[in-house]
Amino acid sequence: MSSRKPFIAGNWKMNHTMGEAQAFMEAVKGKLPDASKVETAIAAPALFLAPMNYLRQGETLKLAAENVYFENSGAFTGEISPVMLADLGIEYAIIGHSERREYFHETNEDINKKAKALFAAGVTPILCCGETLETFEAGKTAEWVSGQIEAGLAGLTAEQVSNLVIAYEPIWAIGTGKTATAEIADETCGVVRSVVEKLYGKAVSEAVRIQYGGSVKPETVEELMAKENIDGALVGGASLEAASFLALLEIY
Ligand code: G3P
Repeated sequence: MSSRKPFIAGNWKMNHTMGEAQAFMEAVKGKLPDASKVETAIAAPALFLAPMNYLRQGETLKLAAENVYFENSGAFTGEISPVMLADLGIEYAIIGHSERREYFHETNEDINKKAKALFAAGVTPILCCGETLETFEAGKTAEWVSGQIEAGLAGLTAEQVSNLVIAYEPIWAIGTGKTATAEIADETCGVVRSVVEKLYGKAVSEAVRIQYGGSVKPETVEELMAKENIDGALVGGASLEAASFLALLEIY
């Protein structure tokens, strides 16, 4: 067993109204597991973060942005900045989600700039990586994911990487109901950890937390979380309803 604290985070993506978000916050109130055993968070649409921050008073639930820009202010219509998140007290921001890479053409360089800007503002990045089905079937997952991680970490300090969260999300398992087997997920999370070790040494690689994401459900979470290299989950569909989010946490 590692000493890393497990971290289960929901990623709502572009779902819910504010009313539904409020109902979720009310439904989880007082029902989250002991924060000394597991860290929990919800990544929500940016519009909801300020009211959810208010609604979570007294709860251990952390909040995350689903995306962020790498500049802190200026003429970047429509973007939100790391300092805006920090100012609200938002703890995390997802960067490099495969949907952002695919539909919004984000590059490894953009994602690396976002990581640096977030750390500078005091917000922890959740850096996503993951391969397509084609890459998986060609046996090139390790090579692909290693490249994404090396580029995403470029220029970060050892201290920053020790505090970072990385999410391995095979694209072929996202929203498809096809969870990678616990063995496959663990193997690739192990590849990610070995890249961190190569770049930053053993202590940093043992500190960095690596989540698995892709069709994680209450029925599959236990087996995944038992694996040596998997320190948590980034969960889409099964995080939308409070009952299902709480069910994911029952193992703690
Ligand atoms: O970021 C979470 C994600 O992409 C996985 O989504 O719906 O397959 O759990 P889902």
